[in-house]
Amino acid sequence: MNFELKTSGLADAVSEKCDALIVLLAESFKPGKDVLSGLVSQVLKAGDLETKAGKSLLLYRPSGLACSHLVLAGIGDGSLKELRQSVAAAVTAVKSNKVKKLVLCFAASPQADALRCAVMTVADASYVFTTTKSKPEPRTLRQIVVSLPAATALKPVFDQAVATVTGIEYAKEWANRPANHATPTMLASAARSLAKFPNIKCEVLGPKEVSKLAMGSFLAVARGSEEPLRFIVLRYAGTVKTEAPTVLVGKGITFDSGGISIKPAPEMDEMKFDMSGAASVLGVFRALAELKPAINVIGLIPACENLPDGRAVKPGDVVTSMSGQTIEILNTDAEGRLVLCDALTYAERFKPRAVVDIATLTGACMIALGGVRSGLFASHDELANALLLAGESSSDLCWRMPLDEDYAEGLKSNFADTANVAGRAGGAITAAKFLQRFAGKFPWAHLDIAGTAWKSGTSKGATGRPVALLLQYLLTATK
Ligand code: BES
Ligand code: MN
Ligand code: ZN
Repeated sequence: MNFELKTSGLADAVSEKCDALIVLLAESFKPGKDVLSGLVSQVLKAGDLETKAGKSLLLYRPSGLACSHLVLAGIGDGSLKELRQSVAAAVTAVKSNKVKKLVLCFAASPQADALRCAVMTVADASYVFTTTKSKPEPRTLRQIVVSLPAATALKPVFDQAVATVTGIEYAKEWANRPANHATPTMLASAARSLAKFPNIKCEVLGPKEVSKLAMGSFLAVARGSEEPLRFIVLRYAGTVKTEAPTVLVGKGITFDSGGISIKPAPEMDEMKFDMSGAASVLGVFRALAELKPAINVIGLIPACENLPDGRAVKPGDVVTSMSGQTIEILNTDAEGRLVLCDALTYAERFKPRAVVDIATLTGACMIALGGVRSGLFASHDELANALLLAGESSSDLCWRMPLDEDYAEGLKSNFADTANVAGRAGGAITAAKFLQRFAGKFPWAHLDIAGTAWKSGTSKGATGRPVALLLQYLLTATK
């Protein structure tokens, strides 16, 4: 997709040749003297349109205008939620009409967050996954022009938004791929292909190297699969080496059957999305390649399958993690934390300013927060607040959850230093408490994206979250 930013008011939009022109009208809309303003005023006066969010009107070949479809869309008071609703509805209204070139016209210049939100929404509403279709219907929408009264000041914001879309779509592509098209080895080659961009390097470790590092916990999860594990290390060097990096750790379970503690059959296919954390790390690096900010970032992805097998790890087995802590694996379906804990220990070597792990970790988090906000857990208030804020301004929301030590009570084991599961109660929090035991040496945050990384049902598919949140955090909080 090709995005372009342009300075133009409603007067210029009249002559804009395109398949669809979407005009966004806030409640504060003041008409000018041009043809389009005249049309809008008429329509508003006639009561055929309101500037309330969600209200819109579609016109075909309106006279005096160069576009073939015109959508007048109310965006209400301009809040991000309303804007997203309106833009999504407007794009959906025209997208079946073979729209190739779309102009999104802000009648009044938006705030930075609103511009980002609009760009991401257009991309999201027009995304299609085609990789595993034999006769794919390709995305028709190719060219998107965003026009606003004063574009120059918002150009950096626009560039960030476009790079974010590139990152989100990269994350969606990998998360959406079925597990046989996204094995640990294939994820590693995707990461390697990112190293063709300047400032990005990639190193991939296999079973031998991982055994040498004594990642006994990660190795235990991978045992049940014929697919060899991969430990992916991505480095983005945008500034001097002396600048401590931020480390992103993405859960890369390319398929989670539960292992010997096998999951029930219904919806098990959705466990191909269990590498969405890893996909978000790949997406962030894809966006960094576009934006080239002056920061340092490390991406770590422990990638493997979780399958039952004669060699698979069994409930009750005790393994020794890279940190030296022993773990009693009471439930092999709590595998995410087992691969992440060794990656967190590995992260220590980078002397990071902060480590953020991203994981589709618990069904409990999905129950707690649904698909609206990701679960945020953090050992440092400053880090937590920066991530919360980044979520708000990138329309990629999260919500802070507690980490009281009392929640770790259930992780006690008679046979190891820690168990990998506690009871059912507070499941998202006890999982985070487990991870925290491996994250004592740096400021640490954990994003549980079990509810937000993909949608189920008829619109089943990856969301690309939380690429936007992570990028916004990296670009604002680490400079
Ligand atoms: N990948 C799942 C978490 C998950 C479940 C994400 C459903 C999205 C939807 C994770 O590996 C898992 O199986 N977690 C268990 C933990 C339990 C055994 C303590 C869970 O949530 O049931
Ligand atoms: Mn699991
Ligand atoms: Zn899992």
